[in-house]
Order: sequence, then C-alpha cells, then structure tokens
Amino acid sequence: FVHQLADESVGMEELLQSPLHLAPQSALPLPPELYGPARRNSRGLDLTLPTTRALLDDAFARTTVAAIPLADPAQVGAAVDRALAAGPAWERKPAADRAAILRRCADSMENDLPRLCAVLVKEGFKCWGDALAEVREAVDFLRYYANEAERILQPQVLPGPTGESNELRLTGRGTWACISPWNFPLAIFTGQVAAALVTGNTVIAKPAEQTPAIAAEAVHLLHAAGVPADALQLLHGPGETVGAALVAHPRIAGVVFTGSTQVAKIIQRTLADKDGPIVPLIAETGGINAMLVDSTALPEQVVDAVVQSAFRSAGQRCSALRLLLVHEAIAEPLIHMLQGAALELVTGDPARWSTDVGPVIDGEAFATLQRHLELLQSRASPLLPPTEPDPRTRLIPPQAFEVGGVEQVRNEIFGPVLQVARWSGDPQAVIAAINRVGYGLTLGIQTRIDSRAEALAREARIGNVYINRNMIGAVVGVQPFGGEGLSGTGPKAGGPNYLPRFCAEQTVTINT
Ligand code: NAD
Ligand code: ALA
Repeated sequence: FVHQLADESVGMEELLQSPLHLAPQSALPLPPELYGPARRNSRGLDLTLPTTRALLDDAFARTTVAAIPLADPAQVGAAVDRALAAGPAWERKPAADRAAILRRCADSMENDLPRLCAVLVKEGFKCWGDALAEVREAVDFLRYYANEAERILQPQVLPGPTGESNELRLTGRGTWACISPWNFPLAIFTGQVAAALVTGNTVIAKPAEQTPAIAAEAVHLLHAAGVPADALQLLHGPGETVGAALVAHPRIAGVVFTGSTQVAKIIQRTLADKDGPIVPLIAETGGINAMLVDSTALPEQVVDAVVQSAFRSAGQRCSALRLLLVHEAIAEPLIHMLQGAALELVTGDPARWSTDVGPVIDGEAFATLQRHLELLQSRASPLLPPTEPDPRTRLIPPQAFEVGGVEQVRNEIFGPVLQVARWSGDPQAVIAAINRVGYGLTLGIQTRIDSRAEALAREARIGNVYINRNMIGAVVGVQPFGGEGLSGTGPKAGGPNYLPRFCAEQTVTINT
C-alpha cells in the first residue's frame, strides 16, 4: 500500500470506492427521527465532506459529497435512555467477551487500513504518513485496552485475617460521554470509546464537528464487531450545543474529553453545578511544549527532532514543540541548520505522498493562526521567510520566530509555528520557568550529559519527557500519554492506569 502511494499508482477514488458509513444510509444506531437536518454548525462550518476531486485540486475547497446528520441537543435524553437500558446486558458480558469484540474491531481496522487512511486524508487533511500512523494507533488502543481489561477486571483477592475473605472488584460506572477532537479523529475517538466500553460502560460519543465521517467509520466497525447499537451511540453536532447537552445530562456517569483547556474547564464547571452524583472527568488538553537544548547536544539530532516535533502534522498535535530553548553557545549554528532543514519541507496537497506539511484543518484555525503570526511579526524576529496567507488552500509553511524567553510565550499556537529563545546559566532555572507556564504535556531535553538529563526530567512538572529524540507520536502501551496542570487531569491514555478510572470499585468482605 505504501509503495502504491509513493509511486502514485493508487488514487483516492479507488480507495474510497465503497460508500462512507454515514447515517442514515448506514447502520448507525439512532433512528432517523432523532437526527436533525444537515446544517452549518455554530462556527459557520459546512458539515460536509470535501470531494476527492476538490482535494486533489490545489485549492482544497470543500464541496458537498455527503450530508452529516446532526443531532439536536433535545435528543440527547432519548440517546441516554437507550444507553442506560442497554447497560446491564453489556456489563454482564464477561470481560473476555468484550475484549474479544475490541480485538475483532482491531482486525477489521487493519484490513480496512487503506480506506480508513483515505478518509483521514480526505476529511482531516492528514498527510499519508500521519494517516497510517493514526490507524495503527487506533488498532493499538483496541488491542491494548482489550488486554488491560482482562487483567484489571479479574477480582483481586486481598490478604485479611483468618476467617475472612476480601476481594476488590472493578465494574462499569454507567453511561459515559466521550468527546474528542479533530486532530486525532480516529485514534483518540477509538481510544476513549474502547476504554469505556471494555470496562462495561455504555457510551455516547460526540466527535469533533470537523471530522464526523471517520468517527462514523469507527462506530460502524465497532458495531460490526459485536458492540450492541444502543451500547455505543454516535451523536454528531457542535460542541457548544450537543456536547454541552450531553455533559449536562443528569444520568451521565462520566465524561472523557480531549480538546482545549478552555472547554475542559467549561465541562468541569457544568459537572460541578449538576445535581446528583459527583461525576468523574478525564480531561486531556493542550500544551505549550518546550525543548531544552544544552551546549553538548548533537546538532544534527536536535534539528531532526525539532523539524519532526514542530512541523509534522502542520503542528496540529497537542504534543508538538512550540518553544525551542537553545544554549547561547550553539544557538547561531543550530538556528542556521534549522532554517535550512525547515526550508526543505514540502508544504502542499496532503493527498500527495511527498507532502510534509498539509493545510490546517479549517478556515477558523487558519484565521486564528494568521492573527498569531501577525502579532509575532510585530514583536519577534522572523527566522523563516513569511508567506502570503492564502485562505483558499489554508497552507502555512513552517514559520519560526526568535523571542526573548519562556515568559513571552503564553498561548498554545496550534499550527506549524515555532518560537525560539536562547538561554545561558543554570538549566534548572529554565525548567523552573517552563513549570511556571502551567501546562505540563511534553518536554524535550537534548544533552550528552546523562546526569543532567535525569535531573532536569525529575524537576519538570511535565507528563511526557523525551530525551535526545523527537517529542511526538507516543506509542500505546510504551509511552503512556498525558499531561498535568493546564494539560489535563490524567490518567495517561495507553497506560496501565487508564482503564481503572472508567470503573467503580467495590470491596467485598465475607466473614467465612
Ligand atoms: P475543542 O476543545 O474546541 O473541541 C474538542 C471537542 O469538544 C469537540 O468535539 C467539540 O465539539 C467539543 N466541545 C466544544 N465545546 C464544548 C462544550 N461546551 N461542551 C462539550 N463539548 C464541547 O478542541 P479542538 O479544537 O477540537 O482540538 C484542539 C485542542 O485539543 C488543542 O488545544 C490540543 O492541544 C488539544 N488536544 C489534546 C490532546 C491530548 O491528548 N492532550 C490530544 C489532541 C488534542
Ligand atoms: N499522542 C499524540 C502524540 O504523542 C498526541 O503526538
């Protein structure tokens, strides 16, 4: 498949020959009367898919190929009722059966890889390499959580005095709201939903409004693998209305959210203000991620890591590098090498194998980035040539600016925009400044002094620390992923502590 992509012997039309699984044609669970008419969302985005032809044009214009059925917030209640009714039967299933369903879904995702990649490229404007990695990550989540569920859902026999037996049991909590972002519209969506389901919960999933088709594909595969329709329901619609109504529903037992810090706080407030039980929130949010480079670092390694971390996926990763902090002794040659490497990147049509940096997700993201760039142009020194903004393509070639220091960086700029600052003196003071920013998602450290790397990592209040490599692409089960502070609540996705947070715990003590 990769060879076919590289020599362009397979086209998007061939990959997408079979119809997308969009309601109402598909077997999506909600009956048609629960869907509202297709329409624009509150941000004015047309919730339709780009045509293949349009994507292959260099204008990336969106034209309608399929209308996405949007739920009305008033319909959330009916969806929750159905999920609650489906709950007991789903929870009674042995954990091994639910795990088997996840594994079946993983197999079908693998078998459907080219087509799923094509949807990610077409709808989410992913470059092929990112699309391939994303399908793999979704498959990894399914298999990892299947294995983890079988491990943690075994009752744990605990020691106790003679004449008494003690057991700790984990069970589902009820119906979870799973709310996910557009930048990993398959992997994060699948990870959240799989974790909630395999632990015996039912799910109502609300994917990002920019990427509804790939979510519908994932739901279709989960249903085909054996998840009952009412145990997993998909509600398309704007976050501010459908998402908000879901979170506010009194019978939702938990919310797992990945997205912006601002929306995580809105959700937290809603949950706190509701009557009834205290509802758990798992929130994974943004980051202002830094890489600290000392004077012993290997320049070639640093440049490669920076280019990957700052510009891959057009910088639209929560883990992406935003602030490069270079020791002044090597700053001049390193910045020079970095400029050369960044200029080599190909910005353009994501459907072409050779493209490194594709368009940003939508017009709103493009406009926000332009505002950030204008501000940086007025306040900081550009290190790469500025480009003429073209809202038609939404392409932004890699941009970099030299700024005064950590203190000047206060916003997550969600695009291919890097800020660079020089430092000298004590590297621990630099880490302290990074900690003061308040986010805590990813950190890069580049040094050849092992003891320094260790000491800096220990000091950093950051969830994922990468030493002498790039700082994106955490692997499920290998690099459990998630931050602290403004970057989220934990537990880390793809790690051993994730599934227990979806569970209620019960200790049973028997006087024998
Ligand atoms: P967003 O917060 O705007 O939207 C995320 C989801 O929340 C979408 O489904 C949206 O419809 C929904 N939503 C919006 N308002 C809501 C409300 N009031 N109530 C309920 N739901 C609501 O984020 P985005 O623009 O889609 O994604 C980009 C952000 O996500 C960035 O900040 C990025 O760093 C973060 N992110 C974090 C991680 C992580 O694992 N930490 C991963 C990917 C993205
Ligand atoms: N999990 C994704 C990464 O590590 C966001 O890049």
